[in-house]
Amino acid sequence: MSSETSLPRHIGIIMDGNGRWAAKHGLPRAAGHARGADVFRTICRYCEKIGIEALTVYAFSTENWSRSKDEVDSIMNILRRYLRDAFDLEGETIRVRFIGRRDRLEKDILSLMEEIEDGSRDNTGLKLNIAVDYGGRDEIAHAAREAAKMVLEGRISPDDIDEDLIDSLTYTSCCPPLDLLLRPSGEERISNFMLWQCAYAEFVYMDTLWPDFTPELLDKAIEEFNSRNRRFGGR
Ligand code: IPE
Ligand code: IPE
Ligand code: MG
Repeated sequence: MSSETSLPRHIGIIMDGNGRWAAKHGLPRAAGHARGADVFRTICRYCEKIGIEALTVYAFSTENWSRSKDEVDSIMNILRRYLRDAFDLEGETIRVRFIGRRDRLEKDILSLMEEIEDGSRDNTGLKLNIAVDYGGRDEIAHAAREAAKMVLEGRISPDDIDEDLIDSLTYTSCCPPLDLLLRPSGEERISNFMLWQCAYAEFVYMDTLWPDFTPELLDKAIEEFNSRNRRFGGR
């Protein structure tokens, strides 16, 4: 990266292409997911190293439950193992949050998530949001429900429901606005990721499958981001 490069403050990544990577190597899909988890760890550390403020990664969508039981089980097992092993919070500076629904995950996974969130609460480094059982539409519905409760409790009036309030009720209210949305794997769609937050994000699509993704490719995406002329609706 050149010294002229300005960094996006908040990057979102749709970690896609694990299944195709596995097929390409004659391996079961689970092997692609496992390799994808390793790459996630590398990219996460790299973002911390270069000073990215916030990173939100899409690990499992509200729609991914529709995959075969075998595949869902293997993804959950990899997640379980990952949560146990990868977040040795001793000496860590990353602040981890899990975003998405919490009512459909197994109890032990939820406890691991809560442990990691609690253990990293005071960390001041990279803000890492891991989206598990996450859907952008579900997130907006959740925010609307919360706003409705506030009205019912008499804490606000319906006229107080504005963009700032909804924004404060999203799962990423802790983070700066999304600057760069990156999707490897060759697909050029959003697949229900960060619908609210994407309003003025720059989209970068890459052909590389997620398990082949590297820090150099992230640098390339950041350079592409830097070449864009962001206008936010102004001149
Ligand atoms: C992304 O990889 C991981 C999850 C959705 C959990 P995929 O499993 O979607 O891989 P492809 O898109 O089939 O290659
Ligand atoms: C999006 O990828 C979800 C994650 C990467 C976790 P999908 O593979 O589920 O999306 P589609 O099916 O290609 O739209
Ligand atoms: Mg996919």
